[in-house]
Amino acid sequence: MTPPPGGLRSAKWFAGRNVPGFVHRSAMRASGFSRMAFEGRPIVGIANSWSEVVNCNMHFRGLADSVRRGVLAAGGFPLEFPTIALGEQLMKPTTMLFRNLMAMDVEESIRAYPFDAVVLLGGCDKTVPAQLMGAASADVPAIALTGGPASPAVFNGRQLGVGTDLWEYIDDVRAGRMSMAEYERLEAAAGPSRGHCPEMGTASTMATIVEGLGMTLPGTAAVPAMDSRRLQVAEEVGARAVGLATEGLRPSRILTAEAFDNAITLMLAVGGSTNAIVHLLAIAGRAGVPLTLDRFHELSSRTPLVVNVRPAGEHLVEQVFHAGGIPAVMKSVETLLHTDALTVTGKTVADNLPAQPAADTSVIASPAEPFQPPRGLAVVRGNLAPGGAVLKCAAASPELLVHQGPAVVFENMRDMLARFDDPDLDVTADSVLVLRSAGPRGGPGMPEWGQLPIPSKLLRQGVTDMVRISDARMSGTAYGTCVLHVSPESAAGGPLALVRDGDVISLDAHAGLLEVLVTDEELASRREALVLPPPRHSRGYAAMYVDRVLQADRGCDFDFLVGRSEHPESEPDAIFDGWVGGW
Ligand code: FES
Repeated sequence: MTPPPGGLRSAKWFAGRNVPGFVHRSAMRASGFSRMAFEGRPIVGIANSWSEVVNCNMHFRGLADSVRRGVLAAGGFPLEFPTIALGEQLMKPTTMLFRNLMAMDVEESIRAYPFDAVVLLGGCDKTVPAQLMGAASADVPAIALTGGPASPAVFNGRQLGVGTDLWEYIDDVRAGRMSMAEYERLEAAAGPSRGHCPEMGTASTMATIVEGLGMTLPGTAAVPAMDSRRLQVAEEVGARAVGLATEGLRPSRILTAEAFDNAITLMLAVGGSTNAIVHLLAIAGRAGVPLTLDRFHELSSRTPLVVNVRPAGEHLVEQVFHAGGIPAVMKSVETLLHTDALTVTGKTVADNLPAQPAADTSVIASPAEPFQPPRGLAVVRGNLAPGGAVLKCAAASPELLVHQGPAVVFENMRDMLARFDDPDLDVTADSVLVLRSAGPRGGPGMPEWGQLPIPSKLLRQGVTDMVRISDARMSGTAYGTCVLHVSPESAAGGPLALVRDGDVISLDAHAGLLEVLVTDEELASRREALVLPPPRHSRGYAAMYVDRVLQADRGCDFDFLVGRSEHPESEPDAIFDGWVGGW
């Protein structure tokens, strides 16, 4: 095994014949590791987001064992370490509030410890982007391993996605089409195994993106969580981490503008979650890649939907796996990719692609016969969203993509919960529902409130979709004509704060326009009278978050974390070696 030029990073800790070297080796031996086990070997950290409060990641102890076997088989030495874990369903007020905290945890853990490479073990929605953000900033060789989609639940003879189908059933309950007894049966059945949501929600989208960025081995994203092949893949990832350590192949060589183009193209080809937009902007910010919302719009205009998976299609990720997985999707859209982009395999995308396209074109189609044409995602701008907003057209009602209607404004979530089912609410199917105070600062944490519920009285009339606008995000498993991520947000004084009931709002997703049809003079006068709600937090992390978080169009990272690290080599500085002389 040839060490990288300049030697192993871990040698700074363990090779010194001095007091620091003694202390570091001694600490390892206190853990029961002999010098033979670790000295001179690449040390591979396994960043494990296992937690009993993250059901999606509950199988990660077993996965970490498999990674460990792979590291040892390849001649490295594994050291597993915990990080904060973000459980989408249990963590309040929203995991997004803590994504940056986890990213900081991951970054500083990687930087602070004697790792020559890291395996990032993530699964549930925010754990993966947080790990990629941290790894991009630390810039120590890194490879991701996602947890895989859970086994789908079966309810009334139908395979379920965790979120996508749940939203439908919730509407069925509210409209009186489903009994509470049946609903409780659904609750028991909804999550039959460990693993992330099995449709193309945020977790599956981020796993796909990891593969698109070149940050994991080809073919890993869609392997089901409970399939023994996921354990085999984990061994291969562990072994490859040793290779990355010895080759010194860092994220900065992989996370290029071309890699982000590839990731966005894949996101669009699979009809992925809009959450991924925010995460990609944040990861790119860490990697020093100048990615903007406009690039999403450009790539959307040429990328069709080629994967038939919920919520935009019919199947679950398991079927995508059996049809060839993400490599087959990449093969399908090969001509839209930068195939010369480098990946963690040490080879290019072209080298990694399968020779043949997917056999089952009912799941993975060719761009010549896609499931939906390009423009599955629209970035809209105008006097209501000068910084931009996004709309997942692939999961929206085509007839609502161009729409004008009067606004029904909810000040915040509390206001909406109090009024949206009020029989006296002045709302029709043509109304545009507006929710404010749901952005990065206003939420805070930009919760997934963007799929505003359809008022029950309209549901009972058979209305299934309306134009909804907010500065919130939306679950990747959700659908509907929901304009999301309005920037700047209302709590930061964005124009969304100026809209009043009855104002006519105009959406034209094809033209990329979102406007409130009110004169500039009127908006200016409303702005003068505007009083923003005070921040909901005055202490601790949440207060810092509100103070330093960037808007959605910049990925909601902290302003002080954007850009390349001041320690690009992630090496311990001089004071580390200079503590005490050698002997
Ligand atoms: Fe964890 Fe969906 S709730 S991946």
